[in-house]
Amino acid sequence: MAKFLNFFTSDKSEEITLNMDSIPKHIGIIMDGNGRWAKAKGLPRSAGHKAGVETIREVLVECNDLGVKYLTIYAFSSENWKRPKDEVNTLMSLLVQYLRKELNEIHKEKVVIKTLGDLSALPELCVKEIEDAKEKTKDNTGLVFNIALNYGGRDEIIHAVKKLYKDVESGKVKEEEIDKEIFEQYLYTAGMPDPDIIIRTSGEQRLSNFLPWQSTYSEFWFTDINWPDFKKDTLRKAIYDYQNRERRFGGVK
Ligand code: FPP
Repeated sequence: MAKFLNFFTSDKSEEITLNMDSIPKHIGIIMDGNGRWAKAKGLPRSAGHKAGVETIREVLVECNDLGVKYLTIYAFSSENWKRPKDEVNTLMSLLVQYLRKELNEIHKEKVVIKTLGDLSALPELCVKEIEDAKEKTKDNTGLVFNIALNYGGRDEIIHAVKKLYKDVESGKVKEEEIDKEIFEQYLYTAGMPDPDIIIRTSGEQRLSNFLPWQSTYSEFWFTDINWPDFKKDTLRKAIYDYQNRERRFGGVK
């Protein structure tokens, strides 16, 4: 029998019913609007990022509670290096603080931490903290929490092509064997399902180099809410809307 979860939206204007049997397996989130949130409050951008980390905490717990299997957040893109040095440093140190503070709880909840992206360009301390977190949680059996760090979708595809090329050269893979399934094994998301839904906050409606290969058939959900104001009921509303979309994957119903 199908299970349902009833809840009210935060402004209490709408009562919504979630079908717990069709929770998306994989949710991708482009967290946007930290800077604008801070500006509107007369605060420095760093305060927006700090508040954004609180939202990550809330969303991770909610995804776990709802039974989402994969959560991928776009924490730092390969283009974010263009930001002022101070801001880049703030983001890196927030990541370190987040892992130091949350890792035990995350581990207790059986979450597996993974990363998507090229970590080699990150500060040494960050890399160590992330690698330790990945190592500690690698045998967990719960939600997979992908943190996209120094990630760019086009870079990911080029990286995959280079690795595949080496395997073709060495004879491990034959050219005629290459198909979508083989190619996907060379992406950072190897072995994971594609995102069912991609959420972007702050009113922007673009992908910004986030999971371009994997999002071919994802449902997109946009909201004007800035990331620090995104709450668990916003997530539930996104999932509710997702459940009311018709996914055809190029076919007919
Ligand atoms: C977008 O807001 C947010 C980011 C580019 C960074 C998100 C990263 C964090 C919240 C912290 C680090 C990550 C972890 C996992 C702890 P924006 O700065 O682009 O906002 P704006 O468009 O309003 O200026």
